[in-house]
Amino acid sequence: MSDALATAGTGVADGAAALAGDEVLVIDFGGQYSQLIARRVRECGVFSELLPSDVSPEEVARRAPRGLILSGGPASVYAEGAPALDHGLLELGIPVLGICYGMQLIAQALGGVVERAPVGEFGRSVLRVREPGRLLVGLPPEQACWMSHRDSVKRAPEGFTELAASTASPVAAFEDPLRGIYAIQFHPEVAHTPYGQQILTTFLDEICGAERTWTPASIAEEQIARIRAQVGEGRAICGLSGGVDSSVAALLVHRAIGDQLTCVFVDHGLMRKGEGEQVIAAFRDTFKVPLVAVDAEERFLARLAGISDPETKRKVIGAEFIRVFEEEAARLDDARFLVQGTLYSDVIESGGRRGSATIKSHHNVGGLPDDLRFELVEPLRMLFKDEVRAVGAELGLPERLVWRQPFPGPGLAIRVVGGEATKERLDLLRDADHILQDEIRRAGLYRELWQSFCVLPDIRTVGVQGDERTYGSVIVLRAVTSDDAMTADWARLPYDLLEQIASRMMGELRDVNRVVLDITSKPPGTIEWE
Ligand code: XMP
Repeated sequence: MSDALATAGTGVADGAAALAGDEVLVIDFGGQYSQLIARRVRECGVFSELLPSDVSPEEVARRAPRGLILSGGPASVYAEGAPALDHGLLELGIPVLGICYGMQLIAQALGGVVERAPVGEFGRSVLRVREPGRLLVGLPPEQACWMSHRDSVKRAPEGFTELAASTASPVAAFEDPLRGIYAIQFHPEVAHTPYGQQILTTFLDEICGAERTWTPASIAEEQIARIRAQVGEGRAICGLSGGVDSSVAALLVHRAIGDQLTCVFVDHGLMRKGEGEQVIAAFRDTFKVPLVAVDAEERFLARLAGISDPETKRKVIGAEFIRVFEEEAARLDDARFLVQGTLYSDVIESGGRRGSATIKSHHNVGGLPDDLRFELVEPLRMLFKDEVRAVGAELGLPERLVWRQPFPGPGLAIRVVGGEATKERLDLLRDADHILQDEIRRAGLYRELWQSFCVLPDIRTVGVQGDERTYGSVIVLRAVTSDDAMTADWARLPYDLLEQIASRMMGELRDVNRVVLDITSKPPGTIEWE
C-alpha cells in the first residue's frame, strides 16, 4: 500500500535531541521487536528513541541518555556482515541493557562464549533465576519468558555474574553492576514475558535512575513549544481527514499558533454517515479552529462515473483530492507551512530523517505531490499511535475522534466492489455501515476491533420478504482484529450481535435482502475487498 513502508531502515529523528527530560536510547540491530522496546520504555514514562546500530559513541555521548538498550536482531554475531557493536558504547559510563542479539554482542565483545546451539529456542520458555542480582530482583525463581534465538551464551564474560538459565540457554541473563552492563537472552518487551515490564522498570528506575517525565501533557507542551519555534509568525495549513492523526496534529498546531492555522476539510462524499458533521462540529464549533469545509461530493461523483476498476477509482479520487486541496491552498496564498500527521513508525520504516520533506505516500487519499511549496510541520513525528491517541484525549478531542478506526482515504468508493460507486450505492452502503457501527459500539466492541465495515458487491440476489419475491443487494460484514494492518484475523463477533445487525439491515434498508460475513484472515486475504 505504501512506498514509505517498502524501504526498511532506522531513521535518526535527531530533532528529539533537544527534548527536555531523561531519555533511554534503543540501539537497533534489526530485531522485529525494536520499536516495541521503545514503546515499552515510553509506557514507563521515559522518552525513548531508536538509533541505528552504526551510531557512534560520540553521538550517543552528545545525547547524554540515562541508559542504552541494545536490541535483538536476526543475525548471528559470527556471521559475515552482521551488525557489530562499537566497543565504545560500553565505555561511556551509561548503563547498558542487552536484549537477545544485544546480549550476545556484549558477551562476544567482552570475552564471553557465544555458540550456535544444536536447537534454537523459539517461543515460550522457562526462566530459572539462580541469583537475582540487581536486574532480576523481586522476580519469582521460575517464570515464563519469550525467546527467539539460535545462538546461545555459554559463558558470561569475566567479572560478570550469571543470573539465570532457561530451557535451552545455559546463561539467559548476566550482569556486572560495577560496569553498569546488564544482559538478558529473552524478550522483556513482549506480552508473553509476564515479568518483562517489571524488568524494564527495574532497569529504568533502579539502574538508570531515569525520571518519568514523558506524559501526554508533557508531550503536548513540548510539541507546542517546538511548533511555535518553527512557525513563528507564519501561517500554516492542514488537511483534516477526520482521522486521529490529522486531528491531533491540527489541534497541537492550533494550540501553538492559534488562528495562524487554517484547516481544510474536503468532504468527498465518500465518508461514513455523519462523519463530516462530526469533524466540523469538533473543530469549528468546539475548538474554534479556522476551518474551510469543502463540500466536493458532486465533483468526486462526477469523476467516478462509469469507473469500476479499483485502482482507477483510487487514482481518480487521489488526483481530485489534490486539485481541491490546491484550490483551497491557493486562496491562502500566504501559508508557508503544511501540517502533516506523520507518525514515528512511518519515520522509522521509511528510514527518513527529520527535515527530509518526503510526504508520506499513503497519507490521506493518494498523497499530496512532493512539489508543494510548503515547509512541513510534523508534530507527531516522534509519537507512536497510542501516544497520539493519549495526546488527543489530553487536548480534549472527543472520544469518537480519538478512537476512530482507520478508514481508507478513498473511503466508501473502494467498498462498492466490482461496480461503479454511484450516489445511490454509496448511500446504501453508508446506511448499512451506520447500523454496523452502531451495533458494534453498543456491544462495547468498537475499540477491540482494528476495523469493522461493510462491503457492497455489485450483485443482486433473490429473496422473499413479506409474501413478495425480492431481487436485492447483498451486504458483506467485515470485522478484523490486527495490530498494524500487515496481518489481520477475522473477528469472532457473537452470533447474537450478528443476528441483530443482519435483522436491522434487512428491516431498515429497503434494498437489502441478504447479509453475509467475511471470515478471511490476512494473509491470504486483504482487509479491504479491492
Ligand atoms: P489492505 O486492504 O491492504 O489494507 O489489507 C490495509 C490497511 O490499509 C487501508 N487501506 C487504504 N488506506 N488508501 C488508504 O488511505 C487506500 O487506498 C487504502 N487501501 C487500503 C485499509 O483500510 C487497512 O487499514
